[in-house]
Amino acid sequence: MSTPATQSSRVGPRYPHLVVLFGATGDLSKRKLLPGLFHLVSSGFIPGYRIIGVSLDELDAEGFRNLARSAVAEFAQRPVDEEAWKAFAEALDYVPLSAGAGALKAAAERAESTFQGESRRLHYLSVPPNAALSAVRTLSEAGLVDRARIVMEKPFGVDLESAKSLNASLHEVFTDQQIFRIDHFLGKEAAQNILAFRFANGLFEPIWNRNFIDHVQIDVPETLGLSTRAAFYEKVGAFRDMVVTHLFQILAFMAMEPPTALLPDPISEEKNKVFRSLLPLQPTDVVRGQYIGYRGEPGIHKESDTETFIALRCFIDNWRWAGVPFYLRTGKRLAEGQRIISIAFREPPKSMFPAGSGVGSQGPDHLTFDLADRSRMSLSFYGKRPGPGMRLDKLSLQFAMHDTGWAGEALEAYERLILDAMRGDRTLFTTAEGIETLWEKSMPLLEEPPPVRLYTPGSWGPNVIHSLIAPNAWRLPFERAWRDPNATGD
Ligand SMILES: NC(=O)c1ccc[n+]([C@@H]2O[C@H](COP(=O)([O-])OP(=O)(O)OC[C@H]3O[C@@H](n4cnc5c(N)ncnc54)[C@H](OP(=O)(O)O)[C@@H]3O)[C@@H](O)[C@H]2O)c1
Repeated sequence: MSTPATQSSRVGPRYPHLVVLFGATGDLSKRKLLPGLFHLVSSGFIPGYRIIGVSLDELDAEGFRNLARSAVAEFAQRPVDEEAWKAFAEALDYVPLSAGAGALKAAAERAESTFQGESRRLHYLSVPPNAALSAVRTLSEAGLVDRARIVMEKPFGVDLESAKSLNASLHEVFTDQQIFRIDHFLGKEAAQNILAFRFANGLFEPIWNRNFIDHVQIDVPETLGLSTRAAFYEKVGAFRDMVVTHLFQILAFMAMEPPTALLPDPISEEKNKVFRSLLPLQPTDVVRGQYIGYRGEPGIHKESDTETFIALRCFIDNWRWAGVPFYLRTGKRLAEGQRIISIAFREPPKSMFPAGSGVGSQGPDHLTFDLADRSRMSLSFYGKRPGPGMRLDKLSLQFAMHDTGWAGEALEAYERLILDAMRGDRTLFTTAEGIETLWEKSMPLLEEPPPVRLYTPGSWGPNVIHSLIAPNAWRLPFERAWRDPNATGD
């Protein structure tokens, strides 16, 4: 087993860090960031640390420690060691926003005086989008820009103009090299495994193109509703919340050319080329949906036009992908919670199997990535059923990461990304250029959005999604469940 020191020298930052966490009392902070930071420091990934929470709530340091204690108790994925907790709690401080930049500056000086030698700063803005710039100004007034990196949460703007103006305002204070626009989907092991799968093997890359692939689906239905996020969601909707962020980032990993090196700049460049090759989104290629009952929820306008569901067809106009449709879907209160990429291969040019043999009857061959925390992969194909004659059935090769015994080594997505930001590794973060290109390609849709169509909670969205994908079919719901690796067969 690695000792804390070896873990830190292997993947952690070199210097102690002051973390300034804006929105420290919010939902994301409680569910992911505080438990994640606790795990990172108690596992020895970070050589030294102090954390200052900043938020609107009028708390003192003790109140913040209590809030962090309950958050870790409720949301930490691993058992909490009391000694480790005491050490963590001592490193926590809190400055209410009302106390101003001077108070933050004083708290930062106190915190940094405990470090020996050089240190760095990581500012995490876990605040609603409209509070981000005021947080940046506070950091600037508090003199906390040097030696700092800043993590920005999604959504990054709401259209091309707002993204450009946000970038311009940010660049008045921080350089783009200091800014880490986070997309937690890319921090998931399963998302990074797409790169390993494609570029570490000779088997699939030769057929990863329009000659062999018929279409691609990126499907992220959610069963959850809005819980406490109604006010935020009503202004944003499914496209801005999910597609222009997570789904397009996954699409880039799936579609990009091999980078010249597995390094941040070459990877960003290849992702940005995918975004530049994306054809502008046409309203006729988009289905917007809203679940029945949404308009009756607290905080939602009774004639709201916000979409809680979106399905769309888009095209990447380059040599590899010209003419191959990419279907993207996501929404709230749908039938199942899933995160899959499904790649449908072209059918053979000619079938020699007799009528009624079953060939092709269950759709094309598929390669499927399940991006859930229990990540899995499946390759489906037709094979012969034992017995007389030639009857075919859909079979599959399946792989589950949990079978490897490595599952315990996984860092949560936010943990991984916080470490990367501290080390200055931008591989899994989005650049200003990338995000602005995505907004640019989205403008035809944003300027003339099709009307929202109602759908029943617990369904797969409005019925018209089937014509969007015809003559193909949505892969979800799966016809066959994933195999349970622990089930015993004979
Ligand atoms: N929650 C998630 O699962 C999730 C997932 C991905 C990304 N995100 C992103 O993460 C960010 C935070 O989301 P959230 O769900 O945690 O929201 P939230 O629960 O509303 O938390 C936001 C926090 O920021 C505080 N705040 C508001 N204005 C502030 C200001 N000017 N300065 C400092 N603090 C301020 C709020 O204080 P009060 O409580 O006093 O209002 C609250 O503690 C958003 O950009 C969101 O899009 C969230």
